[in-house]
Amino acid sequence: MPLTTAKAKAEGQMTSPILISPSILSADFARLGEEVRAIDEAGADWIHIDVMDGHFVPNITIGPGVVKALRPHTKKPFDVHLMISPVDLYLNAFAEAGADIITVHPEAGPHIHRSIQHIKSLNVQAGVVLNPGTPAKMLDYLIDDVDLILVMSVNPGFGGQSFITNQLRKIEAIRKMIDKSGRDIRLQVDGGIDFKTAPLAIEAGADVLVAGTATFRGGPSAYADNIRTLRGG
Ligand code: DX5
Ligand code: ZN
Repeated sequence: MPLTTAKAKAEGQMTSPILISPSILSADFARLGEEVRAIDEAGADWIHIDVMDGHFVPNITIGPGVVKALRPHTKKPFDVHLMISPVDLYLNAFAEAGADIITVHPEAGPHIHRSIQHIKSLNVQAGVVLNPGTPAKMLDYLIDDVDLILVMSVNPGFGGQSFITNQLRKIEAIRKMIDKSGRDIRLQVDGGIDFKTAPLAIEAGADVLVAGTATFRGGPSAYADNIRTLRGG
């Protein structure tokens, strides 16, 4: 069983365990392919794709057709965050479009355990997302099955919101749960991550940071510096 990133970090076995997954929600949508290539070259580890339906969240973004169109532009993993309800109907389409990781909210369907199994049956990594008001306890009977846990540090729907500080306590609690499980599970945080909040999230135990505004601020010539700074220099 591989060491969890936090343990490995403490034991000095990993040099750069923090992954950056820029959210393309803050990219120029008229030049999306180019933007994905630019963040790939700038050092993004994953590409975070926010899918919103105007029903589960009050905003509408993109669907599987766009994910498929972006797939030839990078070899980096597509980290697809589904904010749609009902979600189960669309899992196959996003897997076929090229998702490597699919994350789902427990509130987005009647049976989250079944949704996780469904994602895994598609040979895609499965993640569960906790909204700011959703307790860590939700994970008790899911942690054995997921590859990733995403803590939302804003209410989902929009980029550019402020980090909700009390989610740090949730990240700390989940880091303990992951370490106790002994499973290789990534702990991701999404929303309001910038140069100030990134170190707080890392300190609390997160090892994958999603950042939209903070990655894309300043245009393509700034992406590499932005990503490097978010990662901790
Ligand atoms: C919010 C999305 C986030 C968001 C992040 O619903 O899930 O991925 O776009 O944007 P920033 O980094 O600007 O808060
Ligand atoms: Zn997201």
